[in-house]
Amino acid sequence: GEFINWTGPVHTVYSQIFVKKDGQEAAPLEIGSYPLATEKEAEMALKAALQSHDYGRGEWPSMGAEGRIKAMQGFTKGLKEHREEIVKLIVWEIAKSVADAEKEFDRTIEYIEETIKTVKQIHNESSMFKVTNGFIGQMKKLPYGVVLCMGPFNYPLNETFTMLIPALINGNSVLFKPPKYGTLLFNPLLDLFKEHFPKGVVNTVYGRGRDIVPYLLQSGQVDVLALIGSSRVADSLKKMHPKSNRLHAVLGLDAKNAAVVLPDADLEATIKEVIIGTLSFNGQRCTALKILFVHADIVDKFNTMLAAAIDKLSLGMPWDKGVSITPLAEPEKPGYLKECIDDAIAKGAKIINAADGGGNLGHSLMKPAMLYPVNRDMKIYWEEQFGPVIPVVAFDDPMAPVDYITESRFGMQASIFSEDPQKISFYIDQMIGQLGRININAQSQRGPDTFPFNGRKDSAENTLSVSEALSAFSVDSVIVTKQT
Ligand code: G3H
Repeated sequence: GEFINWTGPVHTVYSQIFVKKDGQEAAPLEIGSYPLATEKEAEMALKAALQSHDYGRGEWPSMGAEGRIKAMQGFTKGLKEHREEIVKLIVWEIAKSVADAEKEFDRTIEYIEETIKTVKQIHNESSMFKVTNGFIGQMKKLPYGVVLCMGPFNYPLNETFTMLIPALINGNSVLFKPPKYGTLLFNPLLDLFKEHFPKGVVNTVYGRGRDIVPYLLQSGQVDVLALIGSSRVADSLKKMHPKSNRLHAVLGLDAKNAAVVLPDADLEATIKEVIIGTLSFNGQRCTALKILFVHADIVDKFNTMLAAAIDKLSLGMPWDKGVSITPLAEPEKPGYLKECIDDAIAKGAKIINAADGGGNLGHSLMKPAMLYPVNRDMKIYWEEQFGPVIPVVAFDDPMAPVDYITESRFGMQASIFSEDPQKISFYIDQMIGQLGRININAQSQRGPDTFPFNGRKDSAENTLSVSEALSAFSVDSVIVTKQT
């Protein structure tokens, strides 16, 4: 509400979708703008959040789960009415295909509804009470206080809400900065936040992270840092808090998920999974398969099949029917991917599908490039590409993919493709202690959203998903009465 008569600086948003006019590419399309908050607005938002929480005595934390569920149900009803508008903004801001943007919206509604159902169960359980050795304990799940929440550009609505919703329903107050790409889609929600939550509970701060986030963290008054983004950013943000060891963090970060394809794998079924795993939303997913270890006995056959499947994918605009590859959301991404491709080629790899070197189909629309043979001297072997580049490594020694995971600084997921239960067990035993999830004969992914979603090393801190996120954003306190 403070920004309605905004006279300060604004940021103009241009779409990554470039429309052709008379055969010529038109100038980037301006799709909106938003205010750029400064420390002054960050201070106002922080003050509002602190006041609304009031050390757990505010209206929102003290209204109890039932009252908060009611508010959340009202909010969800309102959110559903904005489906078309929000889907359109997702499409234009991050160039996600219409079908995927619709899925993102619907998945978000399901996530909220599942969260509400789970909170009801938690608060109905008699396990909220424990009687032991003459004491009665009443267990309480209480909010931390003020949560600073920042989601990523690739699921601007859905992943932001996988933090915002559990934080709110637990009674926290939230300071929330939308992603750099994927901001405008929150405009339709501002009135809904105001209508359904008490003043100061949801504080949306539009602007550049560097202008507002250091202030918020340095204040020492943020209790939880909730971020889905890069580990580099997470590390530097944590250090800004004066008592960083006491800052509770819920983080979903980088990954380099490996697929291991064994000689006995059903190759047709494997290719179907690998195509989705590597290239859905152009590979711009933390859970995407980002490196493929294929056994030397089948690597040629696998490469021929995967390259053919990649070249069948249709490239185009988000609204094109059956489109698979759309423009990349970050304008700087094609340049980075080209660097990775050039580095691999200089060190002996080739593009083995019919790609054109990447990024030259017009701005950010980039043909996928499959690279082979990839080895440890190449950038693409270690770095998270977050785009449509698929490195393939041939291996012989069964321990090679395991050693890769041990050496890597990431630990999110892996996929094993094999029909042999013993070999599958071997890889599960060798890898599970280093990863958040292993997929058997399936692509890597976050869903179903009721399964825990996390990672080791630089990939995550704490666990998201429905019930785990409810725990991540609440503190267990207990009221103990001595039995007489
Ligand atoms: O970017 C990271 C997301 O958590 C990926 O989610 O596996 O459902 O696409 P997803």
